[in-house]
Amino acid sequence: MIKKILVPVDGSAHSVKAVELASDLASKYDAEIILLHVLLRGHMPDGLKRALEVEVGQRKDGAKNLVNMPQEIMARVGSKKDAQLSIDELNFLGKYVLGSVARICQDKGVRKVEERVEEGNPANVVIKVAEDAGVDMIVMGNRGLSDLQGLLVGSVSNKVSHLAKCTCVTVR
Ligand SMILES: Nc1ncnc2c1ncn2[C@@H]1O[C@H](COP(=O)(O)OP(=O)(O)OP(=O)(O)O)[C@@H](O)[C@H]1O
Ligand SMILES: [Mg+2]
Repeated sequence: MIKKILVPVDGSAHSVKAVELASDLASKYDAEIILLHVLLRGHMPDGLKRALEVEVGQRKDGAKNLVNMPQEIMARVGSKKDAQLSIDELNFLGKYVLGSVARICQDKGVRKVEERVEEGNPANVVIKVAEDAGVDMIVMGNRGLSDLQGLLVGSVSNKVSHLAKCTCVTVR
């Protein structure tokens, strides 16, 4: 039986696909979903911007609300190409992304959705939350926000799929 599904979300289109698949499974099995975002320290704001504005925000099905991201945040994310965002801004963006994908879960009829924003090494945090919460399954993207061409699997999904003690599904 699948009772709890963990979905790590970095805001990339891959992670949104993971949310969609997890939601379909959760509706079928009457399972709950934990959405987890680990603060994107060190990520380039233009990568984040792409993820938030293009990949998620302009999707026709689902998370339309990201289009309404407050202008001051979009302006800041868009203009500081090489700078890193402050912790407060990263927190805000993480909560914003989770709030948006949570609506996908609700639209697909998921009964219970928990949103968690954490700090740390993303793969380690995913593994720890999976074990502490006793999830039955992790559903994540095979790739994320990074633009590296040629990589089939990102470092976070690679590490999680090796270390997870539960079923781990990576979507393409
Ligand atoms: N900071 C994060 N918070 C939550 N989930 C994450 C985070 N980073 C990655 N993920 C999850 O892992 C999946 C794969 O992303 P990953 O980071 O492994 O690939 P990448 O960004 O393409 O490559 P890399 O980060 O290794 O350069 C994402 O689709 C998402 O489900
Ligand atoms: Mg990544």
